[in-house]
Amino acid sequence: MLETPAAIISPPLSMTWPRFGQPLRLGIMASGSGSNLEAIARSIQRGDLHAQIQVVLYNNPGAGVAERANRLGLPTVLLNHRHYPSREALDQAIVQALGAHGVDWVVMAGWMRCVTNVLIDAFPRRVLNIHPSLLPSFPGLRAVEQALAAGVKVAGCTVHQVELEVDSGPVVMQAAVPVEPGDTPATLQARIQVQEHRIYPAAIALAAAEQSGL
Ligand code: GRF
Repeated sequence: MLETPAAIISPPLSMTWPRFGQPLRLGIMASGSGSNLEAIARSIQRGDLHAQIQVVLYNNPGAGVAERANRLGLPTVLLNHRHYPSREALDQAIVQALGAHGVDWVVMAGWMRCVTNVLIDAFPRRVLNIHPSLLPSFPGLRAVEQALAAGVKVAGCTVHQVELEVDSGPVVMQAAVPVEPGDTPATLQARIQVQEHRIYPAAIALAAAEQSGL
C-alpha cells in the first residue's frame, strides 16, 4: 500500500539553519492560544532558530498566549484594540511597543486583527504572518472550514510577508497535508497546526536569510 506523506514542506526544512551574527530580535503578535509562539520559543531554546523574543504583544485580555508567554519567561504587553479609536491608532501603539523593546522582525502568530500601513511601513518586509491554508486559496477567517466546504483533498499552511490586503504578500514557506475522509474542522486544523509549528521557526530564519543575502 502506498503511504500518504504526513506533509510536504517547501522549501524543505533545512538541517543547517542559517546563522546570523546577532540573534534576530523578534516581536510576536498573538490573539489566541499562542501555540505558534511556543513552537518558536522552543526552536530558539533548542538552538535551531538564532533569535530572541523581545516581547509578546496580545490584544485579548485573558488570551492563553499571555499565560504561555509568562510560563516561557517572556515579557508581554497587552494592547486591547477596544481601547483605540482606529486601526491606525492601535498600530501606532504596536509600533511604539515594538520599538521600545528593540524588535527588528515582527511575527504575527494568530493575530486576529487587520493591520495597516502604519505597522507595515515601520518594518518594511519584516512582518510575517502564518495562515492555515495554502494561500492564495482561502484567505480570511475560518480558512479550514472554507477548505473543507470546497472539498479540497490537500490543505495546509502558509508563512508569508504581510502586505495590506489580508493574507496576501510573498510566500516564504508552505506545508501541505492531506484532507482525510471524515475530517472535521477540528481534526484538519490539528493536522495543519502540527506543520505550522514546524515551518514557522524555519520560515523566520529563511526570510531573514533572504533579506540579508545569506
Ligand atoms: C493558527 O492556526 C494560525 O494559522 C492562525 O491562527 C492560529 C493561531 O494559533 N493565523 P495559536 O494561537 O498559535 O495556537
